[in-house]
Amino acid sequence: MAKVKSKYVCQNCGYETAGYLGKCPECGSWGSFVEEIADSSSEHKNLPVIEDIYPPQKLSEIEMDTEIRLSTNISEFDRVLGGGIVQGSLVLIAGDPGIGKSTILLQTSGELCKNGKKVLYVSAEESASQVKLRAERLSVKSDNLYIYPQTNLELIKRNIDNLKPDLVIVDSIQAIYTSTIQSSAGSVSQIRECCNSLMQVAKSQNVSIIVIGHVTKEGNIAGPKVLEHMVDTVIQFEGDKYKSYRILRSIKNRFGNTSEVGIFEMGGNGLTEVINPSQLFLKEYNQTQTPGSTIIVTSEGTRPLLVEIQALVGTTPYPAPRRVANGVDTGRVLQILAVLEKRIGLNLSKQDVYVNVIGGIDVSEPAADLGIALAIVTCVRDVVFDLQTAIVGEIGLSGEIRAVNHIEKRINEAQKLGFKRIIIPDANDIQEKFEGIEIVKVKRILEAITRGVKPVKEA
Ligand code: TYD
Ligand code: MG
Repeated sequence: MAKVKSKYVCQNCGYETAGYLGKCPECGSWGSFVEEIADSSSEHKNLPVIEDIYPPQKLSEIEMDTEIRLSTNISEFDRVLGGGIVQGSLVLIAGDPGIGKSTILLQTSGELCKNGKKVLYVSAEESASQVKLRAERLSVKSDNLYIYPQTNLELIKRNIDNLKPDLVIVDSIQAIYTSTIQSSAGSVSQIRECCNSLMQVAKSQNVSIIVIGHVTKEGNIAGPKVLEHMVDTVIQFEGDKYKSYRILRSIKNRFGNTSEVGIFEMGGNGLTEVINPSQLFLKEYNQTQTPGSTIIVTSEGTRPLLVEIQALVGTTPYPAPRRVANGVDTGRVLQILAVLEKRIGLNLSKQDVYVNVIGGIDVSEPAADLGIALAIVTCVRDVVFDLQTAIVGEIGLSGEIRAVNHIEKRINEAQKLGFKRIIIPDANDIQEKFEGIEIVKVKRILEAITRGVKPVKEA
């Protein structure tokens, strides 16, 4: 009998070694090695030479297939996918447990079935009746929707063969296993093998497959990087557990734009699309206006979003003042503080500074700089910022205001939501004519404060 060989595999990056290691030399994570059985039958030396169906071709002679896309009927989801699910593609949806991955995919299944498509929903984590219960809640019913509680990949593949569905959903990749290798479900080897095998099914049978992947505590997709490389599209499902809205974000897409987002709200009947997200993020703004709050127009993908920034500045009781940033990059805030001290002489060396983005959304682009700076300045001066003014602009180290992208879309969004003024960088060229909104162009941070800040009342 052949000797059973074992190997140690890093569960974070998939690095393999013959003996146990405390720290992975590849990705640097500690204690991530797990022993797995090395299956000699899958080693490459025994593989037969495969027939070469696609020999090298001249670029000019290659015929293009027209991409066929399945519309999900959910426009926010379609947008993130780049216009629908491409036939024969493998899509990974990753997110924290309980964020709503199963919910959105069951809803998507329902919508596709309404259009006469056949969907196979492989439920590897929940029983058929649990899925049925959720389907009732979401009013999903169709004879084209097949629920299949199964964890064995070979059986799943056989049923894909038999049913010939238009879309297969695998909920989740961590819960299924292939009998060709011996390690347990959820290990890197299993995930890699299953994903590979599903990719082949997608390409060879031209069926679209969506797999669900859980995210680890650190925010990585469990069994992570290996998966991201293999699939065609990676979509991240994020949101604040304590808030009802959810964001779908594409982080890799072989068939479309990345960094597109779709916004949803989780309610009693599942997820509904949020057509006007800015309104959602501004809901409380008008009622709770305080010194130190401003509205910026950020851009998520190609889409403008109005969000409220709040700053709180106060004398510190500690030897070293605290700088806390939520939803914006702390490094960015420190840089803005340095510019404010140096260029306009704001003395913050004994002040604690807190900056917060309302609604739990992440604003990481530099176009938010000016809004953050003005929030800090109005808080220090204890004035309320003009309710009707929105702000965009990046701040350079010498205090200059730098141009931002998608400026016209941002102005449009502010105007659509009833803002009367918008402060923008002078460096931005605007071709379009805007009516009903005053455009204030500023070159430097001080000018932005003197011209831009119209204190409505002292607080
Ligand atoms: P689920 O789709 O099971 O999450 P995941 O598959 O990502 O783990 O959604 C779980 C949460 O969503 C659960 O806490 C209940 C909530 N939920 C609603 O609020 N409304 C609904 O209509 C549904 C189906 C779920
Ligand atoms: Mg689930």
